[in-house]
Amino acid sequence: MDVIHEILNVVFPVFSIIFFVFLVPTRWFFNLIRLCFKFVYPEELARKVILITGASTGIGEHLAIEYAKEGACLILVARREKQLRMVAKNAKAVGSPDVIVIPADVSKLEDCNKIVDETIKHFDKIDYLINNAAIGKFGLFEDLKCLTDHTSVMDVNFWGSVYTTHFALPHLRKNKGKIIAICSCGGWFATPRVGVYNLQNCISQASKAALLSFFETLRIEVGSYVDILVVTPGMVETNLTDKDWLEEGNASWIPKISAQRCAKAIVNSTKRGDKYFTEPSWMKMVLLWKTFCPEILDSIMNFVFIIWPQISQKEKKN
Ligand SMILES: *[C@@H]1O[C@H](CO)[C@@H](O)[C@H](O)[C@H]1NC(C)=O
Ligand SMILES: *[C@@H]1O[C@H](CO)[C@@H](O)[C@H](O)[C@H]1NC(C)=O
Ligand SMILES: *[C@@H]1O[C@H](CO)[C@@H](O)[C@H](O)[C@H]1NC(C)=O
Repeated sequence: MDVIHEILNVVFPVFSIIFFVFLVPTRWFFNLIRLCFKFVYPEELARKVILITGASTGIGEHLAIEYAKEGACLILVARREKQLRMVAKNAKAVGSPDVIVIPADVSKLEDCNKIVDETIKHFDKIDYLINNAAIGKFGLFEDLKCLTDHTSVMDVNFWGSVYTTHFALPHLRKNKGKIIAICSCGGWFATPRVGVYNLQNCISQASKAALLSFFETLRIEVGSYVDILVVTPGMVETNLTDKDWLEEGNASWIPKISAQRCAKAIVNSTKRGDKYFTEPSWMKMVLLWKTFCPEILDSIMNFVFIIWPQISQKEKKN
């Protein structure tokens, strides 16, 4: 058996590189044709039934408003009913024909079952499921608090999406629906604890990486009858990216995008029928850096988040 690996170790990289040279431009070409087609015939969102978790604030709230503007029917899910009702009112005001709110905790299996049941009772179908609900916990891995808090983070960020997807899948399958998973750029690349996204602790981070991996694998399983769009936003201004934490993590200089702009871009991306979407798009380059020169990326991260703040602090003192 070992011989096979010895051969593959040599042959596979060589073949891969040769194929990339031809495949990548071909893929770009076909993507361009697809984009032109979708530009002329974008996905129609009017009267689509869209379920959004974590819709009371941040990206979820703005997604509700943006999809409402396109004339979609909405099911808004979050724990806080009062906020949800406000978002529902605004969504109706900007053009959604029908909005229902379901107060629920996605970390509970029975709540996720209830969300889908009530949706089917009211609308009789689901077109899009947007797994957006997430919580962030801050702090360093070495703190005990980080370990004792981690269950809730995993339960909401990871299991919440998995449960809801499980119950919605049979209905999505019926009318070639779409799942939109809001992950995070941080899912792609490990940064030091002070790195961009590890301002949220490494367990929050890992929950997003787990989500990314879950949906990519699910796409292989169900991709022929349910579309899956994996969204990896950069740093978005929400209540998860608190100002004090950014300062403490030496990251307040990182350019953020507003939740509204992020939501608008995600709606555009659904209309194009993308499979992956990153906003702001320059973040995609980090993935190339990580693939082709990971050590350099690590050194840059280390310099930016650890060395440079020390230098600038010393200068301030002098
Ligand atoms: C943060 O939360 C407060 C109250 O819960 C809300 O008024 C505010 O709009 C939120 N900020 C963002 C950026 O979502
Ligand atoms: C979304 O698309 C519209 C036009 O279709 C464009 O005007 C707008 O700038 C786009 N928004 C974002 C954030 O990409
Ligand atoms: C921010 O930089 C200071 C050095 O100026 C360092 O002591 C501190 O640990 C850094 N913050 C984090 C979260 O690493």
